[in-house]
Amino acid sequence: MSEAKAPQQRGGYTEDVSAERLAEIGLRFEVDGEIATITLDRPDKRNAQTFATWSALARIGDNLPERVRVVVVNGEGPSFSAGIDLRMFTPEGVPGQGSFSSAARLDSASFEELLEQAQQGFLWLRRPEIVSIAAVRGHAIGAGFQLALACDLRIVADDVKFCMKEPALGLVPDLTGTKPLVDLVGLAKAIDICLTARVVEADEAFRIGLAERVVAGGDLAKAVQEKAAQLLSTNRDAAAATKRLLQGAQGRTLEEQRAAEGAEQAERLRALFAGGS
Ligand code: ACO
Repeated sequence: MSEAKAPQQRGGYTEDVSAERLAEIGLRFEVDGEIATITLDRPDKRNAQTFATWSALARIGDNLPERVRVVVVNGEGPSFSAGIDLRMFTPEGVPGQGSFSSAARLDSASFEELLEQAQQGFLWLRRPEIVSIAAVRGHAIGAGFQLALACDLRIVADDVKFCMKEPALGLVPDLTGTKPLVDLVGLAKAIDICLTARVVEADEAFRIGLAERVVAGGDLAKAVQEKAAQLLSTNRDAAAATKRLLQGAQGRTLEEQRAAEGAEQAERLRALFAGGS
């Protein structure tokens, strides 16, 4: 990652997000003008994710160049991501990263810290200053589904297969995916999807609001580029302010939202017509 800063001490251990380290983890990060692209790049293992993946995603978010307005998250190969690396379920775990057995032996505070670090890899994708787009083809299972849900928009190939597998494996989805899922599809459909761990394919994903657009696999990159260009056509600060308003809308009353709109607009008018805020 050409723009990454030097390794930092965070959460008690050093995290290195150089291009070489990202490659070891199975990630790529590229910035082209106002568009950043994160690619899960372990296609031979269907882009399975580890704690190192999430930690690196968090560091990418921490170091995102200010000029970036659109972040595309995609996966190399036939699957967006087959979810957490299944070695986590073995006693040996993932070398250097432990296993579910070792996580189970942590005290509550240590486990909370570990999980929170992982969750930070997902949460930054909702920042008001950016719009994140998941470009999803093939399987998006478990942590893969949750990574797609962490993005603001999902543009999918017609072979997409979303699956919240965690409950089938005795786990809960804990990588911040449950709220966006409920917000997108409603509680009943979210219960149906999660508690059956069934596969949601493209037609249904579009119909229930999980996907903004479905395209043929060969057209996915072009469709994402088109959406990025549309998003970049609006004013940067107005876009961020509008996203803040939209994100807050469900948690506010109409009266509170009216007031929030006024406050954001006052800022905009000052910035546009009074030489700064
Ligand atoms: N972790 C580690 N390795 C994986 C994972 C994974 N989650 N998923 C696939 N792989 C590996 C396979 O072991 C195989 O490796 P190998 O070539 O060394 O034998 C390779 O990726 C290709 O996998 P296939 O199963 O051969 O690929 P296929 O395209 O037929 O199937 C599918 C893809 C459906 C994604 C299948 O691999 C699968 O079901 N994976 C497991 C999904 C899962 O249960 N994930 C956990 C969800 S829960 C959570 O994320 C918290």
